[in-house]
Amino acid sequence: MLLPHKHTAEGTTIFTVMSGLAQQHNAINLSQGFPDFAIDERLSQSLHEAALKGFNQYAPMPGLPQLRQAIVADFKKRYGLHIDADTELTITPGATYAIYTAFTTILEPGDEVIVLEPAYDSYIPNIETNGAKAITISLQAPGFTVDWERVEQAINLRTKAIIVNTPHNPTGAIWSKEDWDMLASLVKDTNIIILSDEVYEQLVYDGRQHYSVLQHEELRHRSFVLYSFGKVFHNTGWKIGYCIAPPAFTTAFRRIHQFLCFSVNTPAQYALAQYLSLPDLPAVADMMQQKRDYFLELLSQTPFTIHRPAAGSYFQTASYAHISHMPDTEFAQWLTREHGVATIPISAFYRHKKDDKLVRFCFAKKEETIVQAIERLAKLNVMV
Ligand SMILES: Cc1ncc(COP(=O)(O)O)c(C=O)c1O
Repeated sequence: MLLPHKHTAEGTTIFTVMSGLAQQHNAINLSQGFPDFAIDERLSQSLHEAALKGFNQYAPMPGLPQLRQAIVADFKKRYGLHIDADTELTITPGATYAIYTAFTTILEPGDEVIVLEPAYDSYIPNIETNGAKAITISLQAPGFTVDWERVEQAINLRTKAIIVNTPHNPTGAIWSKEDWDMLASLVKDTNIIILSDEVYEQLVYDGRQHYSVLQHEELRHRSFVLYSFGKVFHNTGWKIGYCIAPPAFTTAFRRIHQFLCFSVNTPAQYALAQYLSLPDLPAVADMMQQKRDYFLELLSQTPFTIHRPAAGSYFQTASYAHISHMPDTEFAQWLTREHGVATIPISAFYRHKKDDKLVRFCFAKKEETIVQAIERLAKLNVMV
C-alpha cells in the first residue's frame, strides 16, 4: 500500500536523532531545548492536588476557565494588555500543536507562507501538510537580521501568512518594535496573516524587553500568537500552551481544535492556573541569564567562537570554524561520539541545509551539566 507523503521533511527530526545519539554515547545533552533541573515544588504540588481534588475529567474545549483567567491577569500585569478569556484565548497541548492548528485554520492548497530561516523545524512540514507552499528567506548572518527587501519581493497575491519567531530558536535573536513596524508597512494593504511564535517571550536578557505582536496596534488584529508554558516553567514534558488571536480568528481556530484534540489535560491546566496566580513567581529571565552568562564565560575557554551573546531564548549559537572543516551535521555527530557533548547543527533549521559551521547549544541546564560539558569541549584543539 502506498501512503502519501504529506510534506517534504525526511526521516526523524534532528532533535530526536541527536538526543538518541547522546544517550547511546552517554554524552552530555546540550542539544534538545529542555531544562535538566527540577520545576518549582509548588507547581508539582498543584498537579498532585488537582488529581486529588477531582480535576480528572475533560476540561471545556477552549481551556479551563481558571487557567484562561490567570493568563489574562498575567498579560494585564506584564504587558498592560487586555485579552478576552472567552473570545481570544484557547489552551492547547503545547505550542507546536497550536502552530499546526493555526496553519490548518487558515491555509488552503496553493497558498504561500513566508518562513524566515533558520526556523523551528515544524513550520515547513505543517505548511506542506496543509497543501500550501513555504517560501523561505534566510536571515542575514552573522546577526540573523531580516532582509526586508527580500520579504517585500516574496509577497504576492498567494501569500497567506508569514511566521515570525521572537525570541528566536536557534539564534537567540529578538525582534524590536522597528522590525514589527517594517512588517506592518509591508502587509498594510494585504490580507496577510501573521503567526507569531513567542514561546520564549519571558526569556529575554540584559535588560531588553520582549516586544509582542500583540502590542503592535496595526498587527494585532491579523495575528495568531502562540505560547508554551513548558519554556517558562521548565516543564516541557507537560506540553501545555495557548493561542491568543482576535475573536474571528479564535472562532475559526476552535473549529479545527475541537476536532483535533477537543480538550487539553485537565490536572495540568488546574496546576498551571494555581501556580500562575501566585504573587511570588521566580524571576525566570534572571535565572536563565545567569545560566547564559556562566555558559559563555566557560565557553571562552574552548575554541568555539560566538558572534554575540543570545539576546533571548534557551540557546547560544557558536562557530566551530576554528576547530574543523567538517559539515555541521557531521561535526555535531562527531562531537557527540568522540567528545561526549551533543549539540544541534544549525543547517537542520534550513530546508536546504545551509551550512555556516554553526552549532546550537542549549544552556537551560544545571551548573554542573554546563561545567562537565565545557570540561570536555575545552579539550578540543584549534586547527593548525
Ligand atoms: C520556537 C519554538 N516554537 C515552539 C516550540 C514548541 O513548544 P511546545 O513544546 O509547547 O510544543 C519550541 C520548542 O522547542 C520552539 O523552540
